[in-house]
Order: sequence, then structure tokens, then C-alpha cells
Amino acid sequence: MNIDGQAWRTIGLEPDGRSVWVIDQTQLPHHFCTRTLTSCDQAASAISTMVVRGAPLIGVTGAYGLMLALQVDPSDAALVAAFDQLNATRPTAINLRWALERVRDRVISLPLNERAAAAREEAGLIADQDVAMCSTIGDHGLGLFQQLAAARPPSRQDQPFQVLTHCNAGWLATVDWGTALAPIYKAHRAGLKVHVWVDETRPRNQGASLTAYELACEGVPHTVIVDNAGGHLMQHGEVDAVIVGTDRTTRRGDVCNKIGTYLKALAAHDNHVPFYVALPASTIDWTLDDGVAEIPIEARSAAEVTAIQGRVLTGGAAGELAQVQLTPDGSDGFNPAFDVTPARLVTALITDRGVAEASEPGLQGLYGCG
Ligand code: MRU
Repeated sequence: MNIDGQAWRTIGLEPDGRSVWVIDQTQLPHHFCTRTLTSCDQAASAISTMVVRGAPLIGVTGAYGLMLALQVDPSDAALVAAFDQLNATRPTAINLRWALERVRDRVISLPLNERAAAAREEAGLIADQDVAMCSTIGDHGLGLFQQLAAARPPSRQDQPFQVLTHCNAGWLATVDWGTALAPIYKAHRAGLKVHVWVDETRPRNQGASLTAYELACEGVPHTVIVDNAGGHLMQHGEVDAVIVGTDRTTRRGDVCNKIGTYLKALAAHDNHVPFYVALPASTIDWTLDDGVAEIPIEARSAAEVTAIQGRVLTGGAAGELAQVQLTPDGSDGFNPAFDVTPARLVTALITDRGVAEASEPGLQGLYGCG
């Protein structure tokens, strides 16, 4: 996707072919810069500090992290240690384990001197396949949006198609295109008038900072709202559809996404607004049935709740990023990073293989495995 009219991916190999560049998402939307990762430690740190984030991008970064480790030491012991280190960085998104297993399974039977090159190739394949899957999700979602927009009453046909989204499930969360935002980009490019309500997504504000940034770069009309505004907008007919991403989807179609997603699904259900979840195959965890009971929910630092990051507007430090304390000294914070929306609240899953009911038969019908 575009930044200042130039096409970017979120991650790639440096010209030396041995190190990896990523966009530093902790600096967006105010500063655009890239960072170079030269070791497995740096890749693990980039994931845990959310320099890179979003389930598919975490997976690709993990895959390149294994490559970085194998370039230094291709032994079985080093492979296992790097796998465990990277896999522990963020526990909820299943794409991470999925991508690490792909690289491990690709290299494990190879001679030591071939392992790093094979890991490099596999990580590149995972990245390219993610782009292809997200683009296809966009195509399937576009068809759905076009149908929904056309089915609106004649009095609303002139109005933009109003979509609400939570967190950032755009190209910054993947390698390119995004999951939930891919249908929006395809709709915009196809000439459908679309407007996006962007949940700010406390505590880290991925909506206000990253989704708004992406949409602005692509010229998609959007408005940032506080997380609590979505229900009100739905009650007043201001939302035609909700679309979000997922960090892990169970075989029965429960979806785990950024904290607050469940509340949006409840509000959508109460107001008969369709609630869609967009995902690539790599987000499905075929080993789990019940998302609420079984998906591990990452607990992040309370400091993300009690403080907030932004660009200083006035004074000597104007223009710089700063952390501001929100709460009284001594108040505790609690920060579960994800919640689970049960399948019964999901109108449909939009996948790289098509649109399906959020259920085991729905997913089996598309993927026929598990
Ligand atoms: O904590 P984050 O920013 O990594 O969370 C990201 C999300 O919750 C996305 O919606 C999810 O990864 C699906 S993205 C394509």
C-alpha cells in the first residue's frame, strides 16, 4: 500500500540478504522510519515491544527471526532455542506459532549448511503468500460490500457505505493489503463510496494511530471515534457493517481479537448490523474448539492503561513523542490485550477461500481440514 504515493510492504530483506527491515510502528503516525533487525534477539524484541504487530506480520517477523538465528548457529539446539524465544513473545496470535513451525519443518531435515538459506526462502514465501491471501480476502469482502450497499433502501443509496472497524487489521498488521481493511481498500478503488468509523482502540490506540494513518495515506474517508461511540452510532443507523480482524479463530468459528471487539459484536447483534471477521487460513487454530475457554489471552503492561503516548502540541518539546500519565499515582491498571467473540455473534467469516458461516461446517467447507 502507499505512503506518500510510494508502494510499501511492512517487512523485507535488506540488500545484504542477511538482515531484515521493518517499519517501526511505535513511531506512527507521527514519524515514519524503518529499523534493521540483525539478530533473533532483535526480532523477538521487535515483536514483544510492538515495533511490529498484527497477527500475520508477527508470524512473518518470527519466520525471519529463525533465519537470523540459523545464520549464526544452524544446530538443532539453536533452532529449538530460537523457536521457543520467538514463540513466547506474544501468546495469542496463532500465526506466530504457525509460521515458526513452517520454517522449522522446512529446515529440520536439511544439512546444517543449508538451513539458513532454506529459512530465508520459506520466510519469503510466507510473506508473499500472506500478501496473496489478504488480496483475495479483499476481493471476497468487496463482493459482499457491493451487495450490502446495493441492498440499502433507495433513500440511503447516495450515502457512503458506512463501515466500523476496531484496532488495526490493515496492511500494517500484515505484509500488505491487510485483512479487515483489504475489502475497504478494494471497495474504495472500485469506486464504491465508503466511509470508515475508526475505533481509537485503547489502550495502545492502534485505530487512532495506525488505521487512521493507513486510510489517510490511501485517501479513504474516515472518522476516528472513541471506543465507546460505536453502539450509539449503530443505534442511529450510522453503521452499515462492522469488520474486524482476528488473532486466532477456533475450528468452531469463535474469534479472538483486540480487546473491545466483543462489545462491538454485542452492539452489532442488538442493532441488526452485520458483523464480519476477515482472516487468512494462517489464523485458524484447528486444535481449539471453545475460544473463551481455550485461547490464551496476552496480559500486557498496566503502564499501557495508566499512560498514553502522543505527539506534544505546544511548548519546547512540540513535535516530539511523549508519554503522559493519565491516572493518579498508585492506581493499578489491568490490561488484557484480546477478547473472544463467540461464533454466534459473527455474521460471516471473510477468508482467502471465500465467505463462510462462522461454524465448524462453514470452515470445513472452505478448508476441508482440521
Ligand atoms: O496487539 P496487536 O496490535 O498486534 O493486535 C492486532 C489485532 O488485534 C488485529 O486486529 C489482528 O492481529 C488481526 S490483523 C490482521
